[in-house]
Amino acid sequence: MKMSVLYYTETGNTKRMAAIIAEGMASIEGVETKCFPLDTIDRDWIKESCCVVLGTPTHRSNVSSAIKVWLDESASEYDLAGKIGGAFATSNYVHGGGTMAIQFILDHLMVFGMLVYSGGSALGRPIIHLGPVALENELEKTEDIFRTYGRRMAAKAVEVFKR
Ligand SMILES: Cc1cc2nc3c(=O)[nH]c(=O)nc-3n(C[C@H](O)[C@H](O)[C@H](O)COP(=O)(O)O)c2cc1C
Repeated sequence: MKMSVLYYTETGNTKRMAAIIAEGMASIEGVETKCFPLDTIDRDWIKESCCVVLGTPTHRSNVSSAIKVWLDESASEYDLAGKIGGAFATSNYVHGGGTMAIQFILDHLMVFGMLVYSGGSALGRPIIHLGPVALENELEKTEDIFRTYGRRMAAKAVEVFKR
């Protein structure tokens, strides 16, 4: 079962955390995951993916403008409707707005008809409400949470799409 982690990055933090989410997804049996920066996406892989997660650096308590441009101008080319969707962010400050950036992406994924998911508090600790946020000075400390998030997203996608 194919899954994808898309991201935009300027200084590498969001790329690093995308790879950790992909690692968590791939720990679920039968899941193959690939990560793509927005400018080198394998279109067929995304179209065949049952779960697509999108990550952004937090810019001014929101997504990076590159994410907004991709959502407005390119996302509709990838048959996102009906797939499990999620979002994550990296940021500088704990109150810097990472969750708002995630919410912004989730709203857009819903508009495309995706089945937006995170697991929420229903799955217990670590509690991940809308999606995971990593602070740039503590990326390593947050790796387990991102791995868990990837595993949760993949497990739900397998449950929903298994034949
Ligand atoms: C233009 C700009 C605006 C930013 N605004 C915020 C912000 O509002 N809140 C915050 O916590 N971090 C902010 N940051 C920090 C980035 O979110 C953080 O460094 C992030 O991890 C960078 O990700 P990247 O390495 O993938 O580019 C900003 C960075 C830039 C360049």
